[in-house]
Amino acid sequence: MSILIFGYQVIILIVAFLFGQFPFFWNYEKKILRRLGILPAKQVRIAIFASGKGSNAGKIIEYFDKHLTVNVSLIVCNKPGAGVLNIAEQAGIKSLVIDKETFKKAGEFSQILKDQGITHIVLAGFLWKIPAGLIAAYQDKILNIHPALLPKFGGKGMFGEHVHAAVLAAGDKQSGITIHLVDEQYDHGKTIFQTAIDIHPDETPDSLAARIHVLEHEHFPAVIESWVS
Ligand code: GAR
Repeated sequence: MSILIFGYQVIILIVAFLFGQFPFFWNYEKKILRRLGILPAKQVRIAIFASGKGSNAGKIIEYFDKHLTVNVSLIVCNKPGAGVLNIAEQAGIKSLVIDKETFKKAGEFSQILKDQGITHIVLAGFLWKIPAGLIAAYQDKILNIHPALLPKFGGKGMFGEHVHAAVLAAGDKQSGITIHLVDEQYDHGKTIFQTAIDIHPDETPDSLAARIHVLEHEHFPAVIESWVS
């Protein structure tokens, strides 16, 4: 029986080759072989981009230290001295401090990432806009977390405490987190996950930021895990 199944797969590949469709069918076969455990599982290697203290990066590292479904391979940071760099060092994860010129040369920068085997990018409080070339090189493979319920309170300049101050100034009854794919507009790509909390009557931007962080730490790592799989 197994010889028949194996023979059938080989015939599919031969026919695909003859009709110039080999790459498509070989990719399909590889998926089957991985599922059967004949080929090793493709390794997911993420780079976390962060600009600040990196509490989300820390939680993601912690989670995948236990779960082993994702390899956190690189921390990319645009601010020398940012807290996230200490977190990377303590966890023994390589970090890269980038300058704007290198970052804007998206072709060169994405090659640096590809050379390190990076398969996915996670933005965890990263404040620079992602250049179109990098989005093209990692199509649907870049995830961002935003500390509000998009599409409200997103866009240029909407980060960290500015978001929470705007939510309170608008008198909204709820806020939350949005985890979404990254496209060429700020805070705009397809939403993967959203969850909300009620705003307390005596809420301040600081108290809301703290409660939103708890929500992010609780959900972000598991959302990343299901997204990559
Ligand atoms: C997080 O709250 C994240 O949602 C936000 O920056 C914070 C980073 O905190 N991102 C944005 O505002 C992006 N628009 P952390 O450095 O402690 O992870």
